[in-house]
Amino acid sequence: MNKLIDLIEKLNDTHSLTLDEYEYLIDNRNDEATELLKNYATETRKKYYKNHVFVRGLIEVSNICKNDCYYCGIRKSNIYCDRYRLSKAEILGCCKEGYALGFRTFVLQGGEDGVFTDEWLCDLISSIKKNHPDCAVTLSLGERSKESYQKLYDSGADRYLLRHETADETHYSKLHPSNLTLENRIVCLNNLKEVGFQVGCGFMVGSPYQTTRNIAQDLKFIEDFSPDMCGVGPFIPHKDTIFKDEKAGDAELCCYLLSIIRLIKPNILLPATTALGTVENDGREKGILSGANVIMPNLSPLSVRKKYALYDGKISTGEESAQSLNKLKKSMNAIGYKVVENRGDINNNL
Ligand code: 5AD
Repeated sequence: MNKLIDLIEKLNDTHSLTLDEYEYLIDNRNDEATELLKNYATETRKKYYKNHVFVRGLIEVSNICKNDCYYCGIRKSNIYCDRYRLSKAEILGCCKEGYALGFRTFVLQGGEDGVFTDEWLCDLISSIKKNHPDCAVTLSLGERSKESYQKLYDSGADRYLLRHETADETHYSKLHPSNLTLENRIVCLNNLKEVGFQVGCGFMVGSPYQTTRNIAQDLKFIEDFSPDMCGVGPFIPHKDTIFKDEKAGDAELCCYLLSIIRLIKPNILLPATTALGTVENDGREKGILSGANVIMPNLSPLSVRKKYALYDGKISTGEESAQSLNKLKKSMNAIGYKVVENRGDINNNL
């Protein structure tokens, strides 16, 4: 009897474990378990997505933010952050360039910038959809009212990413100032779902004060919420935050969790994140080989890329960029996967 292996079999069969079981699976991991999970995860992702890798052009629209999340380099109180906001024309230019490169999903990500009124965003979204009717638009712009989410959806946005960051209230309060609550984050996630978005949640691996129990709670949250997408990457300290001396999250554990999440929700859209590619050179490849099926190359104008520094050392001019799509295609081919040129929607034909 090997409890670890039994738990992996159970997860593969039922897509669910108890909190205690997730905790055991994480704390007692070894090479054999990692290998088995990875095999089940890649088998599962291939059932739904073959060997295809979806790409998203990531446009970092603004690093101006009214929030002060303790871990984040673009937090409001970071006076050293060189702030910028892209104009609509610049964003449309990024989409045009991305379209020519083969991207069919654009992700507009930014801080909670007050200038992004519903009117401003709806006008932008409808312009993108008018220029590129065959493309999906994903938003990653933080917490807004349900009415606002509704307007953004009605103007043509398809998907929304809002990481829950941690599913434990106490841990949440150690990462955020008191005006930000897990409760409200979850209200927003539920509102996004009700409005009709394909919704993504997610969390950082190895964020300060995170316990194994907390990660187990994140996995249970993913089970219960059943998101269409889930962003999971290692925490990386930023020099101008109070967490500057904390250590970065573990790439190995991050990949292990990607495999687990693939088995929790077999058809989930799961990116190998930029943060994973930052802590290890071949992090994105490792993520794909662990069960991820999405990569989000950077499509922001070169002039602002360094300024969108959520954490130190963020890769920003090399192979992670949208312009290096050919290199990415080759590196995916080399590990048996294939970048495809389509919207890359969730496969709901279960
Ligand atoms: N390290 C890793 N990820 C980070 N994020 C913010 N700051 C950091 C950091 N220091 C992640 C958060 C956020 C997403 C856009 O980036 O999880 O939701």
